[in-house]
Amino acid sequence: MILLGIETSCDDTATAVVRDGRHVLSNVSTNQDEFHAKYGGIVPEIASRRHAALLSAAVDDALGRASLSLADIDGIAVTAGPGLIGSLVVGVAAAKALAFAANKPLYAVNHLHGHIFAAFLDTEREPVYPFLTLLVSGGHSQLVAVESPTDLTVIGKTRDDAAGEAFDKTARLLDLPFPGGPALEALARDGNPRAVAFPRYTPEPGALDLSFSGLKTSVRTFLENDGGKTARADVAASFQAAVVDVLIDRVSRALDARDYRTIVLSGGVAANTALADAFRALGAKRGIDAIVPERRFCTDNAAMIAAAAERRGAAARVDALALTANPNLPF
Ligand code: KG4
Ligand code: ZN
Repeated sequence: MILLGIETSCDDTATAVVRDGRHVLSNVSTNQDEFHAKYGGIVPEIASRRHAALLSAAVDDALGRASLSLADIDGIAVTAGPGLIGSLVVGVAAAKALAFAANKPLYAVNHLHGHIFAAFLDTEREPVYPFLTLLVSGGHSQLVAVESPTDLTVIGKTRDDAAGEAFDKTARLLDLPFPGGPALEALARDGNPRAVAFPRYTPEPGALDLSFSGLKTSVRTFLENDGGKTARADVAASFQAAVVDVLIDRVSRALDARDYRTIVLSGGVAANTALADAFRALGAKRGIDAIVPERRFCTDNAAMIAAAAERRGAAARVDALALTANPNLPF
């Protein structure tokens, strides 16, 4: 099956063509960073206007790069939520119109499922069910037990900020430019991760909750009291080490509680090299397969949406005219 994927849940206008939920024939994404940077964060109204301006050409671009036309496509997969309502509406409206006009089946995809099934894209190593996913993005941080493509259970999640949100907020404290996560990682590269002992959130034994708001507050308090004595790179590296430690500890706990043969890292924060390295090291230590998707499939993209639609099959298929965007779509 060849699916056209459309993803506009946040600030990336993304389209892709994917064969059999695995082979990426094209994957196009236009980020809007230049339009949001001066505000220090994503402005929803700007995001939806940019999607409206770019999406039609982005669909043509994805099809053109795959050397296909709409008639060659077996269906259209679109992110139905969660995300920014104005952004989602643009993608959903476009997908409905294309599906209706070309008489193609429509597949509604939960954005978070998309991140998880990114692990199957352009890789030789197929995750073995059941597998465990650590899903860390700008809006979500959770551990998910994936029993099958349609049976996914959240077994742990953050009590407050998402990991990506913690990176973005801490980047602001360090006067780094938007988007904060990659900028903080770049600064941390020259720093000492043991320079500052920031707190690691540790719930009661066995619990799989995450929390990052205390860490963020402790970075703010540290910077206020430090008066610029500690190098910013050291602060960044120490913050990053604390986030990585907490995330890896929670994956370890989940592995203590149940045997999985595969663990998968997903979501935009999976683009972080320190986290990816620690995740692979944990897999090696436990003697299990640790999969980190290619960076271009970790951050928001449309290939992952097509992959999730294909894997979930009939469970994702919807009536083209009935689909509505849902900013709070449940997992
Ligand atoms: O999955 P994603 O592209 O969008 C959401 O669904 O939220 O994730 C974006 C998040 C942002 O918070 C961004 O700062 C973070 O992922 N991120 C990173 C890195 N690249 C992106 N965080 C840390 N290190 C990175 N290299
Ligand atoms: Zn995302």
